[in-house]
Amino acid sequence: MQNFQDVQRAAEALHGLLQKGAPSAFLCGTDGAGQPPLGIVLGTGLSFLADSIADSVTVPYAAIPGFPVSSVEGHVGAFVWGHMPRQCGESDEPGRTVIVQQGRCHLYEGRSPAEVCMGVRVMAAMGVRTLVITNASGALNPLFDVPGLMCMTDIINQTGVSPLTGANCDVWGPRFPDMSAPLDARLRTLAMETAARLGLRLERGVYIGVHGPEMETPAETRMYRQWGADAVGMSSVLEIIAARHLGMAVLGLSCLTNRNLPDCMAPTSLEQICDVAQKAGKNLARLIRALVTKL
Ligand code: HPA
Repeated sequence: MQNFQDVQRAAEALHGLLQKGAPSAFLCGTDGAGQPPLGIVLGTGLSFLADSIADSVTVPYAAIPGFPVSSVEGHVGAFVWGHMPRQCGESDEPGRTVIVQQGRCHLYEGRSPAEVCMGVRVMAAMGVRTLVITNASGALNPLFDVPGLMCMTDIINQTGVSPLTGANCDVWGPRFPDMSAPLDARLRTLAMETAARLGLRLERGVYIGVHGPEMETPAETRMYRQWGADAVGMSSVLEIIAARHLGMAVLGLSCLTNRNLPDCMAPTSLEQICDVAQKAGKNLARLIRALVTKL
């Protein structure tokens, strides 16, 4: 398990740097309405979603002691603090204070489960209680549109590791955390209702997280589908486990960037995934902007 002190040190450094960037901002764990900040993790090709944050302060991961920096294209590598949605002239909507992780690191980069989950644990130390986790994934369900969006109903951790291995940190959560509902049903309902109101198609399905970096073989794809997975990707499952261990409520939203069907496998590349994620991400951005004040 990750070292508690390492997370505290990183959270204090981030807090100090944010305060330096916006001395008047609400940085004491709640916004003006007394709500804790909403945490958002932006996955591959989705970093641009942070562009719609107002009064933003950006802190690169490299400026935070001990914080892992992603080596993957499409992951900016910074925390962005601010308000969403952006205030528009006629609206007196106060918006919601958000802290956004613009990019993440992965097991396939050679990072440990502790490094992969550091962002989530730092956000918890900053007062985050509700977390939106986004990613890019391949659609295993043949009925899903690509590009498309999927709201995660459940996860399968096929990475072979857990962020909770080793001595438990009792301050964060219990030794054997419950995983009967890794994703929050209330948040999911809000997401489905909001998507319907916006006229966006939002699938519901099970996300399977694999180690990578190699893409799936046809036999693996067939097996994952038979296990009940609807989409496959190389992130998110460890973060969701760490977040649930910390008692956070999690909403998982996936951008379906390619079809991953065993009988008609098509080669895909990171460039293609990033390209499609940016296109599907426009709808994801609309959904998140409409959702933030409700979560
Ligand atoms: N497989 C694994 N990870 C992915 C995929 C995929 O098809 N698409 C986007 N991330």
